[in-house]
Amino acid sequence: MDFKKEIEKLNTIKTEMESPELIEKQHQKGKLTARERINLLLDPETFMELDAFVESRFHFFGLDQKKFLGDAVITGFGKINNRQVYVYSQDFSKIGGSLGEMHGQKIVKVIDLASKTGCPIIGIIDSGGARIQEGIASLDGYAMVFNSMIKASGVIPQIMVIAGPSAGGASYAPGLSDFIFMIEGISQMYITGPEVIKAVSGEKISFEDLGGASIHGLKSGCCHFVFKSEQDCFGGVKKLLSYLPQNNLDDAPKQKSIFAEFFERENQKLLEIVPEDEKKSYDMKKVIEEVFDKNSFFEVQSNFALNIIVGLARLAGNVVGVVANQPKVMAGTLDIDSSDKIARFVRFCDAFNIPLINLVDTPGYRPGSEQEHKGIIRHGAKVLYAFSEASVPKISLILRKAFGGAYIALSSRHLGYDKVIAWPFSQISVMGPEQAAKIIYKKEIVESRDSKKLEAEKIKELKNFFLDPYRAAKLGQLDMIINPKDTRTVLVKCLESLLNKREVKIARKHGNIPL
Ligand code: HXC
Repeated sequence: MDFKKEIEKLNTIKTEMESPELIEKQHQKGKLTARERINLLLDPETFMELDAFVESRFHFFGLDQKKFLGDAVITGFGKINNRQVYVYSQDFSKIGGSLGEMHGQKIVKVIDLASKTGCPIIGIIDSGGARIQEGIASLDGYAMVFNSMIKASGVIPQIMVIAGPSAGGASYAPGLSDFIFMIEGISQMYITGPEVIKAVSGEKISFEDLGGASIHGLKSGCCHFVFKSEQDCFGGVKKLLSYLPQNNLDDAPKQKSIFAEFFERENQKLLEIVPEDEKKSYDMKKVIEEVFDKNSFFEVQSNFALNIIVGLARLAGNVVGVVANQPKVMAGTLDIDSSDKIARFVRFCDAFNIPLINLVDTPGYRPGSEQEHKGIIRHGAKVLYAFSEASVPKISLILRKAFGGAYIALSSRHLGYDKVIAWPFSQISVMGPEQAAKIIYKKEIVESRDSKKLEAEKIKELKNFFLDPYRAAKLGQLDMIINPKDTRTVLVKCLESLLNKREVKIARKHGNIPL
């Protein structure tokens, strides 16, 4: 055996894999190559490639001439911020990054390795979907990938970056993941492309309007983070990972500090942010900024269902999931989209040991036939289910209103909240006093000689009686009523008291969350 010759052969094969024409083809589309993306994402010199010599076993429809070593996907492992991850990156310059049997097997191998070893998996999608020439084998390739992803769900964080088309079967891998990142002008994710849609229904639509980053970030809610460039997007993936544990048995990374103000800090600003007049709205994001560690809030789905805010933050260095009503949008009511947004986020946090903190100010679930007909009962139930099921520490802070079903979902200790805290002017009630008066004093108001006066009196009476937080505190439903300036300090202490929470559940195959 000629060692030198064999090593030369290996180097020649490796060089041939990186064809300058194909690199140029990808750059001409305004995109980075599969390998450039991996290099941008991982710590320098940490990437180790697997299965570089795998190729398709199929020979039909000219596939022989299009065969490529590696089968249009680069897979392997490396480090991000010095923490181990597995990664795959589809290569659109080769057969459109399409997925066939061996391409699917390569992806399955890294997902299974990531799952077995408890490391996050990051998939970079740039693909025309199932490889047409491989027929049913390519569909089975997707079936394998989906099966592995579903088995790894809740075991390791699964993150997808859409860095080109994500067509047909390619869109369900992101659909099954925990977080989807998209890039403006580059990402397109759809089940059926514009040509098929035109043939089937006559509808004419562009790729961008069908499944671009803004559509999925704003409208469909399929995407969690949108960035302007690939560079920013990979920066976003690294930032997200900095909040996450490696797997379901790990704790999220804790930031340490020796400064007392890191733990306890008065929130004098809160009473300037939240107006005294309950009818006036305000920006809950300002409350979040004031209460949690400075600049630590990383919002998820920031452009979708704006009446609710969800995201990861740190409180005295501990990673927490924040769920907050946004009074500025639709008065912070819960509707179908916001219910889905909350439930998905809460289930992620619960699966990965991230405590939950709710900031509550809401008049309730959103009324109206549009919501009823689209299934607010089915969707709203997801919020109840997800919070009740979550066994991580759960803290609820009521700032102003907590009415009706939204109180139950976001604040009731009987749903399983470990600590329920309220500001002294908070209002907890079945519904607003205006609506309540109309129902329980309907007859008296109609029959009165001065209906308006009587109605106003009854509203006042109900307000005084029901909207007083001390009533809830007397019943033990509120654990504490606090001065708003002490909010952060109280939350820090409550969180620390709950960090070792354990909850034993009755064994069952699985529950049946309303989907
Ligand atoms: C095989 C494919 C392919 C595919 C693209 N290519 N998609 N090869 N199978 N699914 C090849 C093209 O033949 C071409 O090869 C190269 O990739 C680049 O494609 P272009 O069309 O030239 O690129 P572009 O103009 O940028 O358009 C990209 C595209 C388009 C929009 C993604 O290729 C396209 O519409 N592809 C089909 C998308 C689709 O409908 N997929 C669904 C598959 S069915 P050459 O040799 O010319 O470079 C599916 C069902 C699974 O996925 C369901 C599971 C739930």
